[in-house]
Amino acid sequence: MCGIVGYLGHKSPVPLIVDSLRHLEYRGYDSAGVAYLDNENLLQVYKASGKLMNLENILPASLQIRGNGNVSNGAQHIGIGHIRWATHGAANDVNAHPHTGSRNEIALVHNGIIENFYELRQELQCKGHTFLSETDTESVVQLLEHLSQDEPDFCKVVLKALDKLQGAYALNVISKKHPNKLYAARNQAPLVIGVGQDANGHPEYIVASDAVAIVQHTNRLIYLKDGEIAEISEQGVRIMNLKGDLVEPVIETISTDPLTIDKKGYKHFMLKEIYEQPDVVRNSLSGRLQSVHQPIWLLGNTPQAEETFNRELQDIGRIVIIGCGTSYNAGMVGKYFIEELVQIPVEVEAAGEFRYRNPFINNKDLVITMSQSGETADTLAALRLSRQKGAKVLTLTNREDSTMAREADFVMPVRAGVEVSVAATKSFTAQVTALYLLGLALAEKRKASHPEQLEALKSDLLKIPARIETVLHNTEPLQAMARKYGHARDVLFIARGVNFPVAMEGALKLKEISYIHAEGYSGSELKHGPIAMLDSNIPVISVLTKGPVFEKMISNCQEAKAREARCIAISNTPIPKELQTTFEDILEIPECMEPLSPLLTTIPLQLLAYYMAEFLGKDVDQPRNLAKSVTVE
Ligand code: F6R
Repeated sequence: MCGIVGYLGHKSPVPLIVDSLRHLEYRGYDSAGVAYLDNENLLQVYKASGKLMNLENILPASLQIRGNGNVSNGAQHIGIGHIRWATHGAANDVNAHPHTGSRNEIALVHNGIIENFYELRQELQCKGHTFLSETDTESVVQLLEHLSQDEPDFCKVVLKALDKLQGAYALNVISKKHPNKLYAARNQAPLVIGVGQDANGHPEYIVASDAVAIVQHTNRLIYLKDGEIAEISEQGVRIMNLKGDLVEPVIETISTDPLTIDKKGYKHFMLKEIYEQPDVVRNSLSGRLQSVHQPIWLLGNTPQAEETFNRELQDIGRIVIIGCGTSYNAGMVGKYFIEELVQIPVEVEAAGEFRYRNPFINNKDLVITMSQSGETADTLAALRLSRQKGAKVLTLTNREDSTMAREADFVMPVRAGVEVSVAATKSFTAQVTALYLLGLALAEKRKASHPEQLEALKSDLLKIPARIETVLHNTEPLQAMARKYGHARDVLFIARGVNFPVAMEGALKLKEISYIHAEGYSGSELKHGPIAMLDSNIPVISVLTKGPVFEKMISNCQEAKAREARCIAISNTPIPKELQTTFEDILEIPECMEPLSPLLTTIPLQLLAYYMAEFLGKDVDQPRNLAKSVTVE
């Protein structure tokens, strides 16, 4: 949800910033821009709507040289960059960041939403400032310029301006009057400062929304906290709070290798990430589920953390799982699994709803915040609210360096590896696997299920990666279905029991990358409304699994068929011959124990969404209007 970069050092700033922005493209692609101070200390700004590539195409040749970012040329340089996911104002060149003040002295990039922007804008317009864009961000830069008229100390100007802001922000600011200083500030939006050195021993600093945009240059990082401001110069990083009191910077050395963003021969990141899932599940199980006879080890960090967490698990009376989108759907699978196995109440909440009521949460609850990015604004707010109310919070995230991982009481990394495609795939299977491990561990500790049942589940879970491979080896039928149903206007997904969330996830995947209207329902809900939509144009994709709801699902499919819908079955058990005419297409996938089946049934739905979007020529990895990290509410 917008990504920002700032640079102070001796390299050519623009190529370096553009390269860092490339790592932040998952945060938005409505526009991109850079601003820097040139050799004559003039503010130069380049911005273009659309993807980063459009910005690269308008940069003068001297700023485009790939690798130029690594050349240290003696002088000190400063610059900022932005990648936009539009909130206020259309995705055009004018609204693109960086924004500058009326006198073109200050440039600023922003991630977040300034809630009182309209009041500020009116106030500043009355004082003679001319606004060019429709953005909330421009109010901040005009405010800075206004305040700097009577205040020579720019740090004080920044503090005064921040004092007037309401809302969420991560900011990078440069000013031609203070060419040796880069300012960064954070409130409810992530911001990390990389502290490095170039090949000639000059200090350099890269400030970005995510460490992935920094680790190519340094692994020494300062994670700014909410309400902190950094004044960065060649002399070092000065951190202060909003009152201007100095705060001791904490530099952490992280072990992250520079991330290679590589499709490895696949046409899209999404397809690559779908194909990574057998290894993702293996990774997620590794060291945690060794064999069916050994207890499960959950957190994988230190024995002390594991012990404290285990003590916590003994006392809890309820689990509340909170997430958004795909993470919410993964949480729903967890609810079915854990409730059945552990016989403890498990509730699942959409984070954006949870945070704006007065939820009943207390110190007997374990709250699990689920987030691939660990930065989703609503989920982070739910985490904070839950802790305020006395609950212990466990975060399941793919990013151990995220804000949620830092603020939770316990962290269980889901170990999916970097997920580049905006549509979440492998992080879903990794989250579901992590919840299975948690459910099994809880059931073991509380002796809530028969040991034989737990052993059978553990044994089957260890076999899942090989079975996912079998699904991935049989994609031709799915490609044919994509061609056959690719022009549908609406698609329904139905399932029951633990696969009901899989139907929701299948629909979410299809709509987000193909823009086909799709809904996921429990098969039982069909007759309570959605059946009215059915006719011979609507494909109904049903997930059928061997188990207590198989016959019920068959009945639901027949109800759909009776309304002439085009029924498709994804089934992990052979469909009796006499019932096969209900379906236009049947895809058989390997069998497994019913509670674990979502790890297999999800895969063909991800592939189907992928092939349909591909067939329709959509931008699979960067679907319109979406961003991977939703740091605004
Ligand atoms: C769907 C998708 C989104 C995210 C949601 C939560 O493919 O990617 O629905 O699942 O925005 O994001 P995280 O998990 O990062 O909190």
